[in-house]
Amino acid sequence: MNSSIRKFIFDDLQQIDGYIDPPDALVFLSLLQAQTGHGFTGGLAEIGVFYGRSYFLLKKIGGDTDRVLAIDLFDMDQNIEGEPGQYQRFIDNGVRLGLGVDEDLVIKGDSTRLRPQEITDKVGRIRFFSIDGGHMLHHVASDSALATETLADHGIIAFDDTFNPAWPEVTVGVADFLRERKDTFSAFCMTKYKTYVCRREFHDLYYRAITDAPDLMAFDHVETEFLGSRTVRLHNPMGKRMVYELMVHTGMRGLSERVYR
Ligand SMILES: C[S@@+](CC[C@H](N)C(=O)[O-])C[C@H]1O[C@@H](n2cnc3c(N)ncnc32)[C@H](O)[C@@H]1O
Repeated sequence: MNSSIRKFIFDDLQQIDGYIDPPDALVFLSLLQAQTGHGFTGGLAEIGVFYGRSYFLLKKIGGDTDRVLAIDLFDMDQNIEGEPGQYQRFIDNGVRLGLGVDEDLVIKGDSTRLRPQEITDKVGRIRFFSIDGGHMLHHVASDSALATETLADHGIIAFDDTFNPAWPEVTVGVADFLRERKDTFSAFCMTKYKTYVCRREFHDLYYRAITDAPDLMAFDHVETEFLGSRTVRLHNPMGKRMVYELMVHTGMRGLSERVYR
């Protein structure tokens, strides 16, 4: 059991405004550790950092060895007088968590205008790419093309908000990606929020990494066919969700990790 990283996921990380919840954080952990176990190297990258919740998770898991690239417009909260803007809040969160941001590995700007080499020049080919930037179809099309072109052979792409009714064009973008590249890429895992894909040669390896992961045993594993591939859908059982929410709302966040053992 990864007790210190689990404590970080269920407690420290939840203090950062943002969108990755413990179930997906445990998937990130399980996949990154499976890659390390197989000797798979490469950079880590995220498009759509916001205030850094999933970025700091990547930093925490990657430790001193992995380079993590952060890509975002960083143009939010600009006009609130006396308040730090988005970028400053991101940097401050790093200080708060004791995980400094490597500012040489931050790209401030529109991801749809980036060239693949701007990414690989900074961190080499990518072993884990989180896509959570612009949520319209043209963003997803462009960001997924960029990820494909910079991904290591054994690389994984995590698409956020794939089934969120608030962002229907993400759903279309991810389906387009899987249909257009059906001979090379396939999905191997789905959660309520994210879809995880890899090159077909690595599908069975990552499928097993999910089904066998000790940190994911608390979830129901449902085999689901998705555009021609066998996918593990991780379902967060209602009973566990209720106990977890109750603990968080009654000030027992520090112990909430036990619900998902
Ligand atoms: C939903 S938030 C990301 C949440 C984050 N991954 C987390 O863990 O909390 C979306 C982010 O995408 C960024 N974004 C939107 N359009 C973008 C673009 N075209 N290029 C780069 N970043 C973009 C926004 O600035 C915002 O910070």
